[in-house]
Amino acid sequence: MSAAEYLPARLSLTSLRTAAAGCRGCDLYKYATQTVFGEGRAHARLMLVGEQPGDYEDRAGRPFVGPAGRILHEGLEASGIRTRDVYVTNAVKHFKFIERGKRRIHNKPKTIEIRACKPWLEAELSVIKPQLIVALGATAAQSLLGPGFRLLANRGRVITDAGLQAPVMPTIHPSAILRAPDSATRHSEMAQFIDDLRHAAKAITTGLPPAA
Ligand code: URA
Ligand code: SF4
Repeated sequence: MSAAEYLPARLSLTSLRTAAAGCRGCDLYKYATQTVFGEGRAHARLMLVGEQPGDYEDRAGRPFVGPAGRILHEGLEASGIRTRDVYVTNAVKHFKFIERGKRRIHNKPKTIEIRACKPWLEAELSVIKPQLIVALGATAAQSLLGPGFRLLANRGRVITDAGLQAPVMPTIHPSAILRAPDSATRHSEMAQFIDDLRHAAKAITTGLPPAA
């Protein structure tokens, strides 16, 4: 099973969004409220890829509008990247969760679900044609660079992969900053996150790619 058979014949952000709303490429559509497709500038130079929508995103139908989104937007602002200049999406387009009482707790997508959803991400890449992809967290990085990819050993590096439209710079997921055990750790994690985003901003303005 995969999203491939749901792709429209002609790729545009509008046709993709419409088609993705009806995707049944894996089981996750059964439990979530709706498909949360990417959004932003059609020809953004920077594409940001998260893991999957969270509880807020699932209800709103938009990526990164909850607490993780707040951290992301803070990071973008601090690094001089304008939100309106980027395209933001997720590796997996449906919210995967476990119900605990009235709460819905995030549940990490499996490799098979990440792979099933990848045709959407590839189609977004082929329409947007970004200069650089920022992978937010291990799931996004593994979707783009393979399931064996090690995030922490490679964060902040611009990685060129022959199979991809654009180089990828992996960094941590904004939720990891929210989960920091104390405020000192949170501050240093945030500072590193901003550093990585600045590096990404520089890579697109200078047209690098710096050595991988
Ligand atoms: N976390 C993600 O990875 N993506 C979102 O859209 C929201 C939270
Ligand atoms: Fe389709 Fe992706 Fe949703 Fe699975 S998670 S149903 S592949 S859009």
